[in-house]
Parts: sequence; C-alpha cells; structure tokens
Amino acid sequence: MPSPLRGLVAAALTTLALVSAPPAGTFARAPGRAGRPAAAPVVIGHRGASGYRPEHTLAAYELAARMGADFIEPDLVTTSDGVLVARHEPEIGGTTDVAARPEFAERRTTKTIDGVAHDGWFAEDFTLAELRTLRATERIPEIRQENTIYDGRYRVPTFDEVLALRERLSDELGREIGVYPETKSPSYFASIGRPLEPALVAAIERAGLNRPDAPVFVQSFETQNLRALRGQLKVGLIQLMQATGAPADLAAAGDPRGYADLVTPQGLADIATYADGIGPDKDLVIGRDASEALGEPTALVTDAHAVGLLVHPYTFRNENRFLPAQFRSHGGEADYGDAFAEYEAFLRAGVDGVFTDSPDTAVAARAALLDPVG
Ligand code: G3P
Ligand code: CA
Repeated sequence: MPSPLRGLVAAALTTLALVSAPPAGTFARAPGRAGRPAAAPVVIGHRGASGYRPEHTLAAYELAARMGADFIEPDLVTTSDGVLVARHEPEIGGTTDVAARPEFAERRTTKTIDGVAHDGWFAEDFTLAELRTLRATERIPEIRQENTIYDGRYRVPTFDEVLALRERLSDELGREIGVYPETKSPSYFASIGRPLEPALVAAIERAGLNRPDAPVFVQSFETQNLRALRGQLKVGLIQLMQATGAPADLAAAGDPRGYADLVTPQGLADIATYADGIGPDKDLVIGRDASEALGEPTALVTDAHAVGLLVHPYTFRNENRFLPAQFRSHGGEADYGDAFAEYEAFLRAGVDGVFTDSPDTAVAARAALLDPVG
C-alpha cells in the first residue's frame, strides 16, 4: 500500500481489518496457500449491477463496472450447442420472455436438478441462435419495478461477450475490470453430457486470462469441479458455501459432509489445498438472530485467513427485504434501508470483498471507511 493511503487508514481505522490492504480496487490474488490474504476488499457486481438493470445482461455488467465494481459476476449455464451463456440457473423462464414466445411453448418441461423439480424452459434445450431471439426480463419486479422499464431490451449474453466487454471497459476506464464466473449446477450439466468446465477453460484461455495474475476468480457451490479445475486453471478459485445444506456433488456421491463441515478449521484447511478463497452466505460471517437482527461475527473470517483463504460473502442488497432487521427503514420491502450500516459491519469483520447488487453503494461504503471525512 502506498504510504499516504496506509497513513489515512491507520489513523482512521485502527480497529479495522483493512489496515494491511492495498489501495481499494486494486486486484491482488491470495498470496499462496498460507499467510494472511493480501487483497483489498473488492466490490463484485453480483449478476452485474442487478439492483438497477435486469440481471446477467451486458447492460447490467457495464453499469456495474462504471459504478466502480472491481469484478463483474456472470453465472454460467450452457446452450444445447455447448455455448456458455450468462444465466443464474438452467431454467430461463424467470429471467427472459420465453413464456410469451409461442414458438417455444412445446419446450416447457419439468426437470429434476440437484434433487429439486423445476418446471419451465431450460437453456440446454435451446441452441444459441434460438436463445438469442429471447430478451431478458427483471427477476423480481415486485421489488425492482424501476428495472422493468428495461424488460425486452437486452439479449442473453455469451461468456465470450462478457469477457470482451471486460476487456473493452478495462481499456476505457483505465483500470482492470475483473471477471468472476460461476459454474451453475456443474454436476447436473455433466450428467446430461454437457459439462461446463471444458468450455470455461477454453474461454479463459482464448481471452489470454489463464495466468496467476489475471483478474479472474472462478467459483462453484460444488467441490469436485473446483478440485479438477485447480489442475487446469492458474486463476483464483473460490469455494462457495450456503448457510445450510450440502454441495450437490457430495450429496449425489453419498458423502455425508455438508457446508457446516466445510466452514470448520479442518474443512477450510482442506479447501485451501485447491482454492484461493471462500464465498460464504453472509449469514455465515455474521449471523442473524430469531428477529433477523445482525449479531456478532463468527470465527469464519479469522479461520479462513489463518489458512490463507480470501472471504467474499454474498449477497448485499439495498432493499428492506434483504437487510438485517435493525437496518430496515419504515418503508415497504422495496424501499431502501441503511445498507451502509450492513457494509460497515462486514468490512469491519475483515471480509476481503462483497458480492453486491448495488456496486455504487458498496463502493461508497468502502470509501467511507477508508476516508471517513472524504
Ligand atoms: O456466487 C456468489 C453468489 O452469487 C451466490 O449466489 O445464487 O446469486 O449465484 P447466487
Ligand atoms: Ca453467483
């Protein structure tokens, strides 16, 4: 860290775990597999700036970068012809206008994915050309009514397009915009003969990003694909963790371990053998009580840092529906509460980054802590 910034931080934040961080927004990978992570708290545009645009559209990613996000986050699924596209889940009825397209009515079906039955339309049943005729729509219009004016304006992007956007915006903005792809339901896609990983590795290679200093993290809620990717990718790998349940690949293999086992010191030490960090549900970092009020930090950040793992919790959102009880405003679920207070609690707990639907708010919250009088 340059000495002026170090001085600012040290003077203003003697109790904050940011004191050893490089300048905010600077990309840095975890330094090997031991020792304290060195990365500054990074802002990850969750599904783009999905608080302001329909998620997983180029418009959402571009807005996130322009708002100051360090990374843009595409979740990845595949088309029938093997092209990676950005969607949060295989079922595309919740985030596109496919239900209104009579030409695709017969594609509606029910599939069991990771043990859960889903009814709708599925990306893997569409060629890329077919998928390109669809348009993105807002997932939660009851909360984000303002986003609905963009319904019908944007296509479903390919991963290659996201990578090209990242490169263009990095050049234009004069700073490296990172990309943080997630493999969605990897076991499921492998089980139907359309594994995500070969296309993912190929795309990262094509973009010239398969190198240790590339601004890339690859993430997964499953474990086995990350272990395998460790041998193929030089970029950062992040083990995602839900607050409850078990990785789908372990459950399918009859392995009794759940996410509760992954967050123990022993589980974290194992993760550190193949990953560079963890992406926990934020409740695993600071839990909520029965009234949904935020409590005290758990040992997770300390334990993860002890084995050299970064900690990037998800997902931070401005609206009352998603905030801890004490930070909600008196408005309705869609109204904003005191999101700054939530960011402050997590940044003070020492997290290394945040997944957020509102990157501008996260950037401002980070800046407020680094320079309270700025
Ligand atoms: O990948 C981190 C976070 O995005 C995980 O949650 O369900 O939004 O992909 P999800
Ligand atoms: Ca994700």
